[in-house]
Amino acid sequence: MPARFTDRTVLVTGAGTGLGRAVALAFAAEGAKVVVSGRSAATLDETALLIEALGGTAAVVTADVSRAEDTRRLVRETVETFGGLDVAVNNAGVFRGGASAADFPLEDWHTLLDTNVTGVLHSLQAEIAHMRAHGGGAIVNVSSNLGPHVRIPGVFGYQVSKAAVSAMTRAAALDHIAEGVRINAVSPGASESAMSLRPGETEAERAVRMKDESPLGRISTASEVAAAVLYLASEDAGSVVGADLVIDGGVSA
Ligand SMILES: NC(=O)c1ccc[n+]([C@@H]2O[C@H](COP(=O)([O-])OP(=O)(O)OC[C@H]3O[C@@H](n4cnc5c(N)ncnc54)[C@H](OP(=O)(O)O)[C@@H]3O)[C@@H](O)[C@H]2O)c1
Repeated sequence: MPARFTDRTVLVTGAGTGLGRAVALAFAAEGAKVVVSGRSAATLDETALLIEALGGTAAVVTADVSRAEDTRRLVRETVETFGGLDVAVNNAGVFRGGASAADFPLEDWHTLLDTNVTGVLHSLQAEIAHMRAHGGGAIVNVSSNLGPHVRIPGVFGYQVSKAAVSAMTRAAALDHIAEGVRINAVSPGASESAMSLRPGETEAERAVRMKDESPLGRISTASEVAAAVLYLASEDAGSVVGADLVIDGGVSA
């Protein structure tokens, strides 16, 4: 496959683990200079080492997306380090489940909204401010099939937060495409990361559960999710605006 992101600067939030790490590695494998961000320096350093082991280029910037000043500093340091910002992937997110609407703990509600919703807004605002003043760019938000595309009982707050991410993607895409900033989302279903494991569940037990829960019969791999993110960020998707690409093995079909 040709390298679609040679000399492009790509920012990935939540890049220390799971899907974000896979996305960061996939961009680096296609020539991008990648800024990996999250709150924990230790896991981000591991992602950067993996990228460098591939022969890629990475920089670590710690930032908490629930803090607007952190996201502004993140974009500033990205531009200072690599000279620009061409692509941003707003992947940082948290999961809280196990309670119905009436019983949903307000502490979990605020954590979900602060990170998954306000965190994406902070990221968009900082990224768009740079991109629209420097010739445009592409942004991919990581939403979920849970909330915008399918609902299940007992996951109230997370589903509300991700429905907001998908709605925010479409609204922001319309607001900013005329300024050259192309915004889309991916909505994964249960995927290859710790987030899709139920409390105490092993990967083997999750595989058995997915045979019942998914028409495809398995989770999505992290590289399948990453491939969708790279497509939306690439020139191949140059006329794709405000799309929300579901990757869930048919669960919400
Ligand atoms: N795995 C799935 O089945 C699945 C399905 C649908 C959607 N998703 C979405 O995919 C995204 C990635 O999740 P994952 O599965 O890869 O889970 P994960 O391994 O828990 O990754 C989430 C990442 O977000 C970072 N993060 C959390 N809060 C943050 C904050 N306030 N500021 C900055 N970074 C923060 C975490 O790093 P720190 O703790 O170091 O900050 C972590 O690296 C999430 O948005 C999730 O909702 C996942």
